[in-house]
Amino acid sequence: MQLLDGVLVAKKIKADLLQLVKAEQDKGKRVPHLAAVLIGDHPASASYIKNKIRSCAEAGYESTLIHRDSSITKEGLLEIVDGLNRNEAIDGYIVQLPLPRHIDEQEILLAIDPKKDVDGFHPMNIGRMVIGLPAYVPATPLGILKLIEHYRIPTEGKHVVVIGRSNIVGTPVSLLLSRKAYPGNATVTLCHSKSTDLAEMSRKADILIAAIGTPHFVKADMIKDGAAVIDVGMNQIADPASKKGHRLVGDVDFEGVSRKAAYLTPVPGGVGPMTVCALMINTWTAYTGKIYG
Ligand SMILES: NC(=O)c1ccc[n+]([C@@H]2O[C@H](COP(=O)([O-])OP(=O)(O)OC[C@H]3O[C@@H](n4cnc5c(N)ncnc54)[C@H](OP(=O)(O)O)[C@@H]3O)[C@@H](O)[C@H]2O)c1
Repeated sequence: MQLLDGVLVAKKIKADLLQLVKAEQDKGKRVPHLAAVLIGDHPASASYIKNKIRSCAEAGYESTLIHRDSSITKEGLLEIVDGLNRNEAIDGYIVQLPLPRHIDEQEILLAIDPKKDVDGFHPMNIGRMVIGLPAYVPATPLGILKLIEHYRIPTEGKHVVVIGRSNIVGTPVSLLLSRKAYPGNATVTLCHSKSTDLAEMSRKADILIAAIGTPHFVKADMIKDGAAVIDVGMNQIADPASKKGHRLVGDVDFEGVSRKAAYLTPVPGGVGPMTVCALMINTWTAYTGKIYG
């Protein structure tokens, strides 16, 4: 079984980005600049943001963190978004989700200038991606594509089964893997909680992508021998043996599935680091102005 090592691939891509940035600096140009907006003190969100800021440093980017209390009003947050849209020194920015309940996430995401939407969540970018125009691709699906590409996993004519249809992972990754390109040209089945005979479906998958949010949902008897299994899930479970009292596990039963799969992502260390790395790729794209000029 080949482990799909997201830490290693992300490190290599960030080192390549750093070289590109250095080449720009040598020409006397400024470096790419990513801003991140964090609202409240959600520990998982704070930890994601920390990783993103650290990745910026690794790629040679400048970063700015805007952290506000969860009592911020919708108007207050829209003001920050407007400021970032106008700030010419910032190439791209993200608003870390989830937002406090009193703020409508969609309203905030719609206010982000699509040119700076490096998370790729704005309908303009989703729409452009769907019809094959250059667009910022959501970070987790882009990270998955980069992982498939790095390990040269064949996708053409293969059957991909995606479990989970979220706007940020399942739906975009299923669209991307069915487009006319590599990675792509696959026949894709998108499953969700209302799918019947899920195990029967997943056993037909050459490539199985699990984005469900349920620890160890995918067991060995749900996959076919030699499948590539990509585990997007990040679930915290109690673990009295660990210092923190909990640990991170995926949606896939790693131990059982590793005996049957040909390729498998670990959790942590698989899709997670690739997601952050994909954000760095999108920020570089924003800096170069290749999509919107
Ligand atoms: N590694 C990363 O960088 C990264 C990035 C994003 C998310 N994640 C993780 O990925 C997981 C999924 O997150 P998400 O935001 O994509 O999804 P989500 O919005 O939480 O939705 C979960 C999806 O799984 C489906 N589902 C739930 N139970 C199911 C079942 N019993 N059988 C079949 N399908 C089922 C749901 O179906 P319905 O639509 O019918 O409800 C839904 O489409 C979470 O653990 C999250 O933390 C990781």
